[in-house]
Amino acid sequence: MSVPASVDLTTLENELLHEISSAGDLPALEAVRVSALGKKGRVSELMSRLGALPVEEKKTFGAAVNILKSAVSAALDARKSVLEASALNERLNTERADVTLPVRLGPVAEGRIHPVSQVLDEVIEIFADMGFAVAEGPDIETDAMNFDKLNIPAEHPARQDHDTFYFSPGSDGTRLLLRTHTSPVQIRTMSTQKPPIRIIAPGRVYRCDSDQTHTPMFHQIEGLVIDETTHMGHLKWVLEEFCKAFFEVDEVKMRFRASHFPFTEPSMEVDIGAEAIGKPGQWLEILGCGMVHPNVLRNCGLDPDKYQGFAFGMGLDRLTMLKYGIPDLRAFFSGDLKWLRHYGFGVLDVPTLGGGLSS
Ligand code: DAH
Repeated sequence: MSVPASVDLTTLENELLHEISSAGDLPALEAVRVSALGKKGRVSELMSRLGALPVEEKKTFGAAVNILKSAVSAALDARKSVLEASALNERLNTERADVTLPVRLGPVAEGRIHPVSQVLDEVIEIFADMGFAVAEGPDIETDAMNFDKLNIPAEHPARQDHDTFYFSPGSDGTRLLLRTHTSPVQIRTMSTQKPPIRIIAPGRVYRCDSDQTHTPMFHQIEGLVIDETTHMGHLKWVLEEFCKAFFEVDEVKMRFRASHFPFTEPSMEVDIGAEAIGKPGQWLEILGCGMVHPNVLRNCGLDPDKYQGFAFGMGLDRLTMLKYGIPDLRAFFSGDLKWLRHYGFGVLDVPTLGGGLSS
């Protein structure tokens, strides 16, 4: 079989180039490509005829088909770029996102932030604004960290108040425990960082206790500031600023009552006037605080003649109950969805000082 090569190929090339240039969109162009270069396409078909040709013709015909193939490929690529660019332009012209529209409510809006998480975020936001960093410590502690180094020795009566959960002693006789307060984070921080120190340490704490206002696990936030000239005026200012920001009021009445904690001297308990939460005429206890005891500084390798500072500790769950009027602490940990829908917060309403803590 002989093929009138030159005629065939020129006509075919012209036909294909015409089809390519008139393909109006990418799917149409793809159809042309398949019909020309696909397995059973018209150009591929020519190649399969090669085998039947005499040796001489095989060479020239083969070369000519390859040239045709290259020309068609190049034309396909060029047309493809043009069509892709116009498809993109078309999309840019028709698809627009108005970034000023409110976020569409979807599954994300179904979720609820637990009130304790909300209050934790609020408290962190307030203290971060005053230059405090967030520190953390483990829930499982040693006697030394939870008590001894905080100036609460073995026979100290304060230990009894804590109703500690102990683990069974290890082979070397040491007993680990679930920390009864976040104060051991003070020790961990002062033992590893040089002053100036300014931290808050939120976390879970554990005590063997359970009624309407006590659960075996609850949350505290510890605060610690150590520097060379830090004094009680700073402590009072920090707590007052915190209370105003947290309860979202311009004024707050505060009362500092003398108290006793082994790790502070002097020690105080702080009450706020309940008008801050819309209940005038009462006082509410919200935290314990004081100037860090020299023994505690010494236990962490700090020289009490050089360094001094203050610490405070408050119950996060209690703050949450007060601010959001939640009566029963146990509901915090019961995993009741109905409760969470009622008291929970929107996932997208992140508390900020600028935008409002709770709205
Ligand atoms: N650790 C104390 C408690 O759990 C609370 C506390 C009181 C922490 C006074 C302090 C502080 O840092 O200065 O009852």
